[in-house]
Amino acid sequence: MKRRDFIQKSTAVISAPLIAPQFFQPHKTLPLQGNTSPIAVCTWNFTAANAKAGVALEAGKTALKAAIEGVAVEENNPKNTTVGYGGAPDREGHVTLDACVMNHQGNCGAVLAVEQVKNVAALAYDVMEHTPHVMLAGEGALQFAKERGYTTEELLTPESKKRWKEWLKNAKYQPIINIENHDTIGMLCRDKNGNIEGVCTTSGLAYKMRGRIGDSPIIGSGLFVDNNVGGAVATGMGEEVVKTVGSFLIVEFMRQGHTPQEACELAVQRVLEKQKGKPNFQVAYLALNKKGEVGAYSIHGGFTYMHYQQQKNTGHKANAAYSL
Ligand code: GLY
Repeated sequence: MKRRDFIQKSTAVISAPLIAPQFFQPHKTLPLQGNTSPIAVCTWNFTAANAKAGVALEAGKTALKAAIEGVAVEENNPKNTTVGYGGAPDREGHVTLDACVMNHQGNCGAVLAVEQVKNVAALAYDVMEHTPHVMLAGEGALQFAKERGYTTEELLTPESKKRWKEWLKNAKYQPIINIENHDTIGMLCRDKNGNIEGVCTTSGLAYKMRGRIGDSPIIGSGLFVDNNVGGAVATGMGEEVVKTVGSFLIVEFMRQGHTPQEACELAVQRVLEKQKGKPNFQVAYLALNKKGEVGAYSIHGGFTYMHYQQQKNTGHKANAAYSL
């Protein structure tokens, strides 16, 4: 090839668009298929919370309103030591809560390290609806809660305080989430309009360093929703979920055509790829797509989830990379 021809051909290539224009076309909203009745799914065996959301969906509430009502059951439950009131404190004895919400339009809100307010999923919703921001943290989030009229109270129950005092006797800082016990509640709902929206709320790792934040209030990690595709929520060791942006990853796998089950398995695999051998922490995922298909998978056995549809609220055991 003569040099002039080569330059002309090269120029032609360089001036061509780098990415084909069709790549930028908007996603098509998938039509609902099969059984289009409302659905609520949540992590772990939070039966009453999931039922509450299911009933709210049947009554015609939006997916997000139903999910916020559902998770509030656990945020208000003093016996639940991993969410809301009665949650385990940080190593200095402060109960600090994290939550986020995401709606079908892709709007989201989050609160981090909030003290004295138990219904932090509702507070995250208020951040989304009543501020120009996505995240509020600590003192500022508390101030916002007070302005919005939230009740403030001590969230450390006598039982939680007793357990923390016991822990202080040895006070070994081992940030390991117990693989048998539940932690975060993540909930995804599909409402009567077919919209998928979700919530994630937690008191985080028990006896964490003051100021530590996990995956739960981080959009894309603890929760992600794309109403054209579906949603995903995470539970377990937040640091590992954040490193792989787990919930976003699952939604993207579903967008590529994977079922929710395959997507959850691939996301767990992504965590495991970074480990040498069997890890001593748990990560678990739950996903729901527009067709109403559900997937769940975890590193270790023991992860369970609830599924509400057509007045039936059923508990399920997820498969795991390492069975118990
Ligand atoms: N998944 C809850 C946390 O790590 O804080």
